[in-house]
Amino acid sequence: MTGKHWSLTDPESGESFALPVREPTIGPRVVDVTQLYTARRMLTFDPGYASTASCESSITYIDGEAGILLYRGYPIEQLAQQSSFIEVAYLLLHGELPTKAQLEEFDHSIRTHTMINESLLRFFNGFHHNAHPMAMVAGVVASMAAFYHDSTDIHNPRDRDIFAYRIIAKLPTIAAAAYKHSRGQPFVYPQNRLDYCSNLLHMFFAVPSDEYEVDPIAAEALDLLFILHADHEQNCSTSTVRLAGSSGTNPYAAIAAGMSALWGPAHGGANEAVINMLEEIGTVDRIGEYIARAKDKNDPFRLMGFGHRVYKSYDPRAAIIREMCHRVLEKLNLDAPLFELALRLEEIALRDEYFIEKNLYPNVDFYSGIIYRALGIPKSMFTVMFAIARCVGWVTHWREMVTDPSTRIGRPRQLYVGPARRNYRPITERD
Ligand code: CMC
Repeated sequence: MTGKHWSLTDPESGESFALPVREPTIGPRVVDVTQLYTARRMLTFDPGYASTASCESSITYIDGEAGILLYRGYPIEQLAQQSSFIEVAYLLLHGELPTKAQLEEFDHSIRTHTMINESLLRFFNGFHHNAHPMAMVAGVVASMAAFYHDSTDIHNPRDRDIFAYRIIAKLPTIAAAAYKHSRGQPFVYPQNRLDYCSNLLHMFFAVPSDEYEVDPIAAEALDLLFILHADHEQNCSTSTVRLAGSSGTNPYAAIAAGMSALWGPAHGGANEAVINMLEEIGTVDRIGEYIARAKDKNDPFRLMGFGHRVYKSYDPRAAIIREMCHRVLEKLNLDAPLFELALRLEEIALRDEYFIEKNLYPNVDFYSGIIYRALGIPKSMFTVMFAIARCVGWVTHWREMVTDPSTRIGRPRQLYVGPARRNYRPITERD
């Protein structure tokens, strides 16, 4: 075999099988096991995919040990400081930072595709007022497949572009409709004059009976949160979008699948769970009790917003958001007992042997809920906010997957541990 390879040796027969080693631009090398089953009738076992690279990708890079996150090679800290969510969306989708003209065209295109079909809007009337917004939004996004099927030929580049722009432009409108439904307020239509995040805040908080001015500090904070959430390589929801999409399904359906995966408390649902946890802890003197519970193997409680599959050091996004909390709360002149509590909780946890030994640090969800709360966004909408930002990542990965000639339908195998073949016994013969 030419090129670098590792070999897998059967100690009994001494027989070896060469496995090609793939070199990344940066990051760990990858052993290619694709021919292992065909050639040796042997599978690899990796529940949770902790050691499995499921695809080639050139979108996002994470170094979990060093706390590095790059979008298309650009450090998240630089993008957070100098870019905007719309520019980052362009970068992720197209691979390069836009020129001024490209950015203006992209921004214009997103701004002018924000309205949703009126029939789609009427779907919300079918939901109970206290339905969780994630249930409503995922349901309505899946239903988009029934409205835009004229332009969802996944093999047509133009259709793929139309899909990408449509879902990114319309998701805030759908999210706002879910919010308004849960409040019993009339729906507020999008305004093309407003930028992405200002438009979202306007659709959330404006009412027909009053003037509403978007607070630029709020819009700026939301824009920054969206940059930080826009992509995170092959996480649970993105992998779900890729897996669902690999069957060739309608792309809106694939995005709805990703959205459902995001909802779980181990993933994007953690932002809501963090605030619930902080409210339950209530005061600094009770932190010790909750730290003890998080360490107790017999207690299912975990410190929400702590720990990460990939980051084994401080999540760079959490560091930026923590800093942003200080600025936003100060600028909005808000008292923030929950933020103070979160800071103390972090301080105590990071000094604790259990968290040190297991490399458990605050993740992106630990402080994001505090900002959302400061902006007046209710807890149940936090994960929807995450979904709006991550939608850009989902769409980018979906496009990469669809256009990758090596893509095959995603179909993992298993280590079967059930009963061996046995014969059916009539009911009268069973114990
Ligand atoms: N509190 C207490 N113990 C923890 C925590 C935590 N938050 N997270 C991990 N551990 C322990 C865990 O019990 C295990 O201990 P042991 O080795 O003794 O069995 C060890 O640390 C490794 O944990 P794991 O569950 O095997 O790690 P994982 O990579 O499978 O899970 C995680 C990662 C994020 C699901 C997990 O850390 C967790 O449940 N955190 C809380 C939920 C959360 O904040 N999720 C948001 C993740 S970041 C944003 C996103 O993905 O959307």
